Amino acid sequence: QETQPLAGQSVLITAGPTREAIDPVRYISNHSSGKMGFALAKAAADMGAAVTLVAGPVNLATPEGVTRINVESAQNMLDAVMDNVDKKDIFIGCAAVADYRVSDIADCKIKKSAEEMQLALVRNPDILATVASLANRPFVVGFAAETHDVEAYARDKLKRKNLNMIAANDVSVAGLGFNADANALRVFWPQGSQDLPATDKLTLARQLLSLIVKEKTK
Ligand code: PMT
Repeated sequence: QETQPLAGQSVLITAGPTREAIDPVRYISNHSSGKMGFALAKAAADMGAAVTLVAGPVNLATPEGVTRINVESAQNMLDAVMDNVDKKDIFIGCAAVADYRVSDIADCKIKKSAEEMQLALVRNPDILATVASLANRPFVVGFAAETHDVEAYARDKLKRKNLNMIAANDVSVAGLGFNADANALRVFWPQGSQDLPATDKLTLARQLLSLIVKEKTK
């Protein structure tokens, strides 16, 4: 059916930021609003897919028909993804996952004392690369948030993380990307690429999903 090109397909999407606790009242995070990932979830559901959305802390309503799982940290997000990835046809990692977490979360609120203090950080697991390494993996689509050398970094992530496709956005452009209603994507896959010029995130989500359907069925 032309308007339901994802009928019968199961799609798992991550969206929003993660929060990495410092102590009971503080955390490290980023400016992701979840809008891009939620637009993908809505567009995929509209195209007939069964959609599971793993969402970091965001202020957005769940799109109709979408199963939502709320998480906080990168480790929580990885656990939720691994619990739900089985038998999924497509995985899209749109979340802005923190690359590092605090190595020792303080049990009590850290008191103000010395003029300087240091936080020790450790690397978080890479959710996208973990999904891509599964034996029975879905079609794996990553995002790349870059401020410069967009194509080179995106192609490097495509290859290094062993992805089927990557959607890069230049997050240095005002009015696009993080926490904006519009975005522009440059999509790369091993044999090709396509530019999706600036427009609202729902339109872009539909365009990206159409590209995924096309490449996946090749
Ligand atoms: O949420 P919005 O306000 O709508 O903004 C949308 C967006 C800018 C957040 C989105 O379009 C976007 O670019 N998402 C990816 C942000 C990001 O973390 O990019 P990255 O280049 O650092 O990561 C590359 C890829 O690896 C991403 O698919 C990311 O989900 C994934 N990743 C990163 C680190 C990690 N530990 N695990 C991961 O899976």
